Amino acid sequence: MIFPLLDKLALAGLHAMDAETAHGVTIKALKSGLVPACRVPRDARCQVKLWDLDFPNPLGMAAGFDKNGEVPDALLKLGFGFTEVGSVTPNAQPGNPKPRVFRLPADEGVINRYGFNNEGHAALRARLEARPRQAGIVGINVGANKDATDRVADYVAGIEMFADMASYFTVNISSPNTPGLRNLQARDALAELLTGVMSARDANANTLGRKVPVLLKIAPDVSDQEMEEIVAEVLAKGVDGLIVSNTTLARTGLRPDPRRDEAGGLSGKPLFRRATIALAKARKLAGPDLPIVGVGGIDSAETAWTKITAGANLIQLYSSMVFKGRGLVGEILEGLSRELDKHGLASLDEARGSNVEAWASASVD
Ligand code: FNR
Repeated sequence: MIFPLLDKLALAGLHAMDAETAHGVTIKALKSGLVPACRVPRDARCQVKLWDLDFPNPLGMAAGFDKNGEVPDALLKLGFGFTEVGSVTPNAQPGNPKPRVFRLPADEGVINRYGFNNEGHAALRARLEARPRQAGIVGINVGANKDATDRVADYVAGIEMFADMASYFTVNISSPNTPGLRNLQARDALAELLTGVMSARDANANTLGRKVPVLLKIAPDVSDQEMEEIVAEVLAKGVDGLIVSNTTLARTGLRPDPRRDEAGGLSGKPLFRRATIALAKARKLAGPDLPIVGVGGIDSAETAWTKITAGANLIQLYSSMVFKGRGLVGEILEGLSRELDKHGLASLDEARGSNVEAWASASVD
């Protein structure tokens, strides 16, 4: 009982600070070991086997929280089934001027325009090498430097740099905060990028022949035609999965708040509907076999379950931790078990996509 109270106080304290300072303090606290580990339920029905990886549960921490790989093990101790570090670019870069991240408390949303601030490949590699135990599933999310003359080369460099240590890779072409980056989602550019990335992945199979799974992370703002082309390219190039989605540029349906017009990508509760529709559309186009990670606005067991029934194999969250704190992980996992009980199902796989038609034909407004 003491921890929920302390958590509430900690959240109130963090919310008294500006959002970026609060994030820095949270990372420091996680690093220091001051944040107690969480006991989360283990339910064999919620384990997920994908590629050559055994996920203890389907819920991961999304990219952007731990850009520099400072706290992967602390996040796994909170009960997440996996975590994703990055986005990381070849060279360190400062990102956009501050302030560059804003909370929208009334909507439980976040707007960020960080612009891939990160310490670069070498620093991330050194940190991950220094992990005391290399246990747990840690994906590496790769991006391109703002001033890169050849963006494909930056992604390829990421694959080459981390092929021996990534559980999986995410190729992030959907951040709205690096000018032009999202243009890589257009068919010809995407084909060129995926050819480069997949051949680098194949060429860097480890000595045991392990080829690291590569996932493509896309925006929720793509048109139906763009989505068709993206999924077609993903299937044609043998990409191992999709992450749907990154933040949105849309601002529809937000309550009045001076910060809602800040430039950047919107995440959290206001993203849920748009991201879930994009997920269902991707699932419908891809068929049942392509692994898809559903992310965007998950803040409860109910929204987590909805993502799975809209077609997700795995799920991730970030923004709701800002508003609800670390107890949310256990709450969601308990709720997923309850949903399985309620529907009499033996695994999440049996629930996956059961509601895909309704979501794929829903409208965002
Ligand atoms: C992000 N996100 C993100 N994604 C990514 O691929 N690379 C990144 O560096 C970042 N950085 C980042 C910073 C901040 C402050 C936020 C809030 C988000 C996007 C994130 O991984 C996720 O896709 C979206 O936030 C949607 O999920 P939630 O936050 O609604 O659960």
